[in-house]
Amino acid sequence: MSAEALVQPLYLVATALFIMSLRWMSDPETARKGVASGVAAMTLAVAGTLAGVAAGGGTHYVWILGAFALGAAVGYPLAQVPLTAVPQRTALSHAFGGMAAGLVGTGKFLLYYGRSDAAALSPFIVVALVAEVLLGFLTFTGSLLAAGKLQEVKWIPQRPVTYPLQNLVNFALFGAALALGAALVLHPLAPWAPWAFGGLATLSLAFGVLLILPIGGADMPTVISILNAYAGLSAVAMGFVLNNKLLITAGALDGSSGLILSVIMCKAMNRSFFNVLFGAFGQAQQTAAGDAAQVYKEDTPESAAQIMAQADLVVIVPGYGMAVAQAQHKVRELYDLLKKRGVNVKFAIHPVAGRMPGHMNVLLAEAEIPYDDLVEMDDINGDMPHADVALVIGANDVVNPAARTDKTSPIYGMPIIDADRARTVYAIKRSKAPGFAGIDNGLYFLDKTFMLFGDAKSVVGELARQLGEGNQA
Ligand code: TAP
Repeated sequence: MSAEALVQPLYLVATALFIMSLRWMSDPETARKGVASGVAAMTLAVAGTLAGVAAGGGTHYVWILGAFALGAAVGYPLAQVPLTAVPQRTALSHAFGGMAAGLVGTGKFLLYYGRSDAAALSPFIVVALVAEVLLGFLTFTGSLLAAGKLQEVKWIPQRPVTYPLQNLVNFALFGAALALGAALVLHPLAPWAPWAFGGLATLSLAFGVLLILPIGGADMPTVISILNAYAGLSAVAMGFVLNNKLLITAGALDGSSGLILSVIMCKAMNRSFFNVLFGAFGQAQQTAAGDAAQVYKEDTPESAAQIMAQADLVVIVPGYGMAVAQAQHKVRELYDLLKKRGVNVKFAIHPVAGRMPGHMNVLLAEAEIPYDDLVEMDDINGDMPHADVALVIGANDVVNPAARTDKTSPIYGMPIIDADRARTVYAIKRSKAPGFAGIDNGLYFLDKTFMLFGDAKSVVGELARQLGEGNQA
């Protein structure tokens, strides 16, 4: 049996499984099936590649096994990070993907150049090689920097770094990389070609850093998704170089899903793509957080529990703080106790609450809260004026009314959950610190708002305890 006849059917099934994986992952109810099918697809892809090597009489197993061991040694600890660190973990995965594409592209170019193989270095293949190396290496350094920013590594500036003519410098650098790429396409075997290739690789590495430096704050998760798209595109280019159809389709799926996700995030924050990449968002966001003129009203969990027990409709608005506190199971207890009392309880899900798409859905699904009670922002907002209580648990930017009213606010135009339209608002957070965007939140200072300061898990636990005691009485 020829290697092709063995490998192609495996690749075809793997492609179908990758497509189904994305389809299933778009719904919390089928997400686990989606993950399993993605794993199966990847296993088939690796098995197909190994079978191809075997059928072709290849003898590279030691290298392959070595790569497996190295990949597992890096991948296993990466998979153990808490859910709140998934964005930076994802950035690291893109960095590795980009690095692999860049290195494979460099290796292939040097191999063909060393053999003076003009046929292998056809214009089509060199275009693919240039795209692979450019996108691969810029994804590598850009993703490393993005991961460092999100992880708040001390020596990496978290806020955007800007300097005069920054975008011009970046475009000039990118233009220089493209010019080197064009020269390579025209003269792939010229004596200077390896130098030009080295220059292209170096400029790509530098461009990745310069592209991410001016981005910060709330835009980082979106940028990580854009880098995901770049990593996917570099895999497509690698697929053309290696003549591997599965790499082309899987890379295209990766690239397009990353792009679609970035668009969804941009829409949810009312930002344009261009603005995310070149807007230096998050730079001058420190407003008068905790302004002395604005006074917080505090309340106790006991009285909050009494108010909620008498409500017809309680809307819980979860945010990043619920994830940090891992409060979802306590939230489930509270939900059960309120339901027992006949209170209608809904969860208002903002598309960018937390630090990654679907963050709140994942946590609430983990606590087995019925999907029917998780209501998307656009659907719940109409009900907010009828809500007796909006219970904001560690959410800040996504309930900030400045997004609706304050044209000078950096989050102006971002759609929000209208918690301020509920009859009473209880907000749980630990301190007077601002949210991710670094800005003050007028919601906390409304007459109808009462703060329950403390860690979300313990405050919600206390609310549940109070309601539980009330139930027994
Ligand atoms: P944030 O605005 O980040 O606010 C989270 C709040 O939780 C903070 O005010 C913090 O206040 C509180 N908190 C933290 N730890 C807590 C704990 N243990 N217990 C209780 N409270 C705690 O979160 P959000 O409202 O979910 O908004 C998400 C932000 O991320 C937005 O700016 C959004 O644009 C950005 N973003 C998200 C995404 C995705 S895909 N999710 C993508 C791009 C950008 P204290 O420190 O006082 O406790």
